[in-house]
Amino acid sequence: MSNQRPALVVGNWKMHGRLAGNAVLLQHVAQGARALPQDVRVGVCVPFPYLPQAQALLDGSPVAWGAQDVSAHEQGAYTGEVAAEMVAEFGAAYAIVGHSERRAYHGESPELVATKTQRALAAGLTPIVCVGETLEQREADATRDVVGAQLDAVLAVLSADDAARIVVAYEPVWAIGTGKSATSEQAQEVHAFLRERLAAKGAQVADVPLLYGGSVKPDNAVELFRQPDIDGGLIGGASLKDADFLAICAAAAAVADSAS
Ligand code: PGA
Repeated sequence: MSNQRPALVVGNWKMHGRLAGNAVLLQHVAQGARALPQDVRVGVCVPFPYLPQAQALLDGSPVAWGAQDVSAHEQGAYTGEVAAEMVAEFGAAYAIVGHSERRAYHGESPELVATKTQRALAAGLTPIVCVGETLEQREADATRDVVGAQLDAVLAVLSADDAARIVVAYEPVWAIGTGKSATSEQAQEVHAFLRERLAAKGAQVADVPLLYGGSVKPDNAVELFRQPDIDGGLIGGASLKDADFLAICAAAAAVADSAS
């Protein structure tokens, strides 16, 4: 974490939650986030039907909310899809795009992810663009090629000004939901590479927030967030437990404090 960039911790609930449990979780997170310093920003990306609930319970709190995907289309005959504009109507700040689960199970191509990023930006949302390699790709020494190509596909369709408005999350596929986080060195190495790629797009793009995701837990968050190019985390499993998620936010606050 550097003292130039604010820290950002975002929860990705994936397909979890029910109204009653969400209410408790959202209220606890909102309450806990009030104690955080202002240079630590917090968000939660919930399943689409829970956006109004997040809006109702988080409005006026320091916690922002968002969706986990948006359609590549603006509107029209696309049964089952949800437009970025619809998400924005519920006061959302963020939309995750290109999560590896979407790329793997829904065949999302780098070009489709790029279009979704444009749609999110056009609707006034901050896209959280996920990139990451599989274990096979890492073992074949292809990590840079894979994440570089995933990021480049997005940067290719954006102006430098728009590119400066995105968030990028590096999530090695082999670390997601496995309990096996990347080491802080492995993560930092890829983050530094992504930072260079962003900087090549324009000076204003160099400070895009770069989040690490993949088995971030209270006990490894400090070490990860201490890395100079890791600006925060995208948190899956641990974002479903208020104490764990708040402990990870507190880790970001502690590191931001020591960096300033
Ligand atoms: P995890 O998921 O924290 O459960 O590994 C991260 C993500 O997929 O965003």
